[in-house]
Formats: sequence, structure tokens, C-alpha cells
Amino acid sequence: LREHEEFTKVKNIATIELGRYEIETWYFSPFPPEYNESLKLYFCEFCLNFMKRKEQLQRHMRKCDLKHPPGDEIYRSGTLSMFEVDGKKNKVYGQNLCYLAKLFLDHKTLYYDVDLFLFYVLCECDDRGCHMVGYFSKEKHSEESYNLACILTLPPYQRKGYGKFLIAFSYELSKKEGKVGTPERPLSDLGLLSYRGYWTRVLLDILKKHKGNISIKELSDMTAIKAEDILTTLQSLELIQYRKGQHVICADPKVLDRHLKAAGRGGLEVDVSKLIWTPYK
Ligand code: ACO
Ligand code: ZN
Repeated sequence: LREHEEFTKVKNIATIELGRYEIETWYFSPFPPEYNESLKLYFCEFCLNFMKRKEQLQRHMRKCDLKHPPGDEIYRSGTLSMFEVDGKKNKVYGQNLCYLAKLFLDHKTLYYDVDLFLFYVLCECDDRGCHMVGYFSKEKHSEESYNLACILTLPPYQRKGYGKFLIAFSYELSKKEGKVGTPERPLSDLGLLSYRGYWTRVLLDILKKHKGNISIKELSDMTAIKAEDILTTLQSLELIQYRKGQHVICADPKVLDRHLKAAGRGGLEVDVSKLIWTPYK
């Protein structure tokens, strides 16, 4: 049985159609058994229902009346919008999103108990509707101060700064909650690269302004980044010394400039004035 399971694990969906894209999948995802023989699945890009045949999707599109994710639009700047979807109020959408996301996430056990999560779905909007670019999920109540459970940028949109936008957005929510946050572990390779890039840029910008005269606690208060993540980031940049039992930031301006030059692009900016949101109670 084990072997059979492993076998079917790789014999899963190979491509999906979503909006105007045909996307090759990366990993196994536990779709209900009746979908498992299909090499290709057809997704409604708005409600994320999936079907085995193109004609079924076409029929569905004639009657599906969603033009954006089923939740509150909490951010709009230009053509970019963020929607907050409550997994309890929109269970099927939440589950569909998890099935879809798992196709690109290897290491995660996805929780199908979607009740406990909020989904923040990033869209590019035009006159045809709001097209999903990526998303992150967040536990409604996290004991471990996680401010993000899973993050995904759909492959056609990757490497354009959306990932860092989603990460920045998760920290803006934490700032509004007055809490520090950290992503759920483990991180994938791409997740780690994106977070390291985000943390590095945010911290270097502040250190440069304050000429290094700032503590880890203050950095954490300003950014909502958890102190441990600040420490590991600054350590990897060799900006930390350990003196008399304490971690001290040593921010030589020349070293800062060198790191800033090497740091990747900043990603798409979150315009906080366009975020209209109150924390989940
Ligand atoms: N090769 C090398 N570096 C990469 C690559 C790549 N293919 N993709 C991203 N990066 C690095 C780069 O440093 C990049 O910054 P740069 O372009 O300035 O150099 C940085 O990551 C972030 O780039 P963005 O364009 O902002 O991010 P993107 O929109 O591509 O999304 C994400 C990043 C969400 C991790 C995406 O790669 C993805 O969805 N991967 C599959 C799912 C996944 O692994 N999610 C994270 C799991 S961990 C968790 O969920 C807590
Ligand atoms: Zn639909």
C-alpha cells in the first residue's frame, strides 16, 4: 500500500489551467480521488473550483458570478488589490486554494481545517475581474506569533517582486495588531531567499538612517520583525558583535553600503495609507 501511495503521489496533476495561464505544477497535491487520474485540471480563476474537462469549465464560467475572491477588499493601489477571505465563511474557497497551493509547496502539511485561517489574496485587476497573483494564509490565533503560514506567488507572476510585497503586507498587518510576527517554519528554499531578502533590505535601510545607533529591540518594534529573525539576519551580514554577554550592532557605513548594493530589488511597495483593516477578533 505504501508503495502504491508513493507511486500515485508522483502520478498527480501535471498542469493546470487558471485564467489565461496554463501552468506546470511542481509537487503532489491531495486532490479528491476522482481527480487523481487527470493530468490536467481546469480552475475557475475566481472561485477556484476545479474541473476535469475544459467544457465543464466553460459551462461553469457562464454561470459563475464571482469576479474577485469572496472576501473583503482591504487594500487597493493602482491595479493591485488584496482581499481578506475568512476560511470559516468561505470554506470551499479556502480548501480549493489549499489544493492549488500545494501543487507548488513541497514541505508543507496543509491544514484543511481552513476555519482557523484567513487568506490574503493578491490580485491584478482589470475590466474582466481581479486575477489572482498569489496569496498568504494566516492563523486567526497563533500561539507561536506566526504572522504567515503559507505564501505563494503563482509561477507566471514569480520573480517580479510580488513575493516581497506579500511578505511586507504580512508585517504591516502585524504592525496594526501591535505584535511582532514570524513566518511558520520550515521555510522552502525560495521562501528563505525571499524572507532573507526582505529582512536584509528593511533592516539595512533603518540602520543607514540611524547610523547604527539602535538596538535589536527597537528594530523589532519598528518593523514587527521578531528579534530572533533580526539577529540571524544581522549575523549573516556580519553586523553583530558579542560583547560582555550582549549582542551589539556594529554598522560601519561602508559595510552597510556594500550590503545595500548587493541586496536585491526591494520588491513592490505596500502603500500603508491604502490598507483599510482592523485586526481579527
Ligand atoms: N531563483 C533565485 N532566487 C529567487 C528565485 C529563483 N527562482 N525566486 C525568488 N528568488 C529570491 C530572490 O532573492 C528574489 O529577490 P530579487 O528578485 O530581488 O533577487 C526574492 O527571492 C523574492 O522575489 P519576489 O519576486 O519578491 O518573490 P516571488 O514573487 O517570486 O515569490 C515565493 C517568492 C513566494 C517564495 C515564490 O517563489 C513561491 O511561491 N514559491 C513556491 C512556494 C514556496 O516555496 N513558498 C514559500 C514556502 S515557506 C512558507 O510558506 C512559510
Ligand atoms: Zn467560479
